[in-house]
Amino acid sequence: MKILAIETSCDETAVSILECTGDEHGAEFRILGNALISQIDLHREYGGVYPALAKREHAKNLVPLLASALEEAELLHEDTQSIPHDVHESLVTILSREGELCEALLAFLSESERPDVDAIAVTAGPGLEPALWVGVSFAKALSLAWNLPIVAADHMEGHILSSLLTTNDGITYELPKPKLPLLALLISGGHTELVLMKNWLSYELVGQTRDDAVGEAFDKVARMLDLPYPGGPEVSLLAEQNREDATTNPFTLPRPMLHDPHSDFSFSGLKTAVLYLTKGKELTDIQKQQLAHEFENAVGDVLYAKTLRALDDTQAKTLAIGGGVSANTHVRRMFTEKLSRDLPDTLLRIPSRALTGDNAIMIGVAGYFHALRQEFTAPEQLVANGNQSLSSAV
Ligand code: KG4
Ligand code: ZN
Repeated sequence: MKILAIETSCDETAVSILECTGDEHGAEFRILGNALISQIDLHREYGGVYPALAKREHAKNLVPLLASALEEAELLHEDTQSIPHDVHESLVTILSREGELCEALLAFLSESERPDVDAIAVTAGPGLEPALWVGVSFAKALSLAWNLPIVAADHMEGHILSSLLTTNDGITYELPKPKLPLLALLISGGHTELVLMKNWLSYELVGQTRDDAVGEAFDKVARMLDLPYPGGPEVSLLAEQNREDATTNPFTLPRPMLHDPHSDFSFSGLKTAVLYLTKGKELTDIQKQQLAHEFENAVGDVLYAKTLRALDDTQAKTLAIGGGVSANTHVRRMFTEKLSRDLPDTLLRIPSRALTGDNAIMIGVAGYFHALRQEFTAPEQLVANGNQSLSSAV
């Protein structure tokens, strides 16, 4: 089955085409085409993602990305097409809020043949709702124009499943059947959650942050250290520098909820503790490195302790880590080292670095498994839901 996947939930616009085979007992995904534009440079001057700008950029980028992904997949065949009047009218209605996108899509459709794909997967949530709507409306329009079924994919499910992918060449990915139950630690800019998959694609929330998401805490701490957005990689860089030549660290930060008897997290107190240490002070470069180092240690300690507790509570056999913060070197190293020592029989899965950030490959993978179950959403029923939750949505 060939899946055309679309991701626009935050500040990455992405379109991928995947050739998918197999099922939950073992699947294979060949990336036929993959096109992505990151908006990070544009949002940097606002110090975070600016939703109106994200929406505008998605609308501008989707048609060029679609063309480029199809071309890479050798599925783009130029030929003059006449768009039936009723289809034309419906497309204009579906994209009534996206004038520029509508014009670009109509032009594209009038000069390209319907490609040989079987289904569309689009991120319906969670994420920034105005941004999600651009992708969702685009998917509806393509579904209508090319008569393709749509899977409404969950962004967080994409992050979980992408941690299970293995590859040797970055083109063909295998997804072997994971040992269940699987516990997923989801760490991104908007989420910090522990989610249990007892049965394939069915989820229960085990714990979550009571305030800030871990990526958000990284981004806020980065701002306090005068580092640009997105702060996670910047803080990580400083911390790693200090790890190399660390002697003693003058900073001590709290590990919120470390010993509390539940699997929830809290990062706002940690962030405030950093604020007190930085407010009105001119920190030296070394002090910034030390503070970043201690902050990352505090985050890592809490994430690990809470995950270990949840693994014990749930008796999960696989731990999957997903979301943007799973790119963090300290988190990857610490979980790998400690888990092999503490729970050597638990399988740890972390996405390859190429897949830690938002992308459409993970949306295609999630979409495929639901397409196998014929879980399609009729275009008129498809909505973007910024607050979509995995444990109730799937
Ligand atoms: O999953 P993602 O790309 O977008 C959301 O769905 O939120 O996650 C983005 C978050 C940002 O907060 C970013 O600072 C953080 O992931 N991040 C990192 C690293 N790379 C990205 N945090 C810590 N260390 C990193 N290396
Ligand atoms: Zn994400």
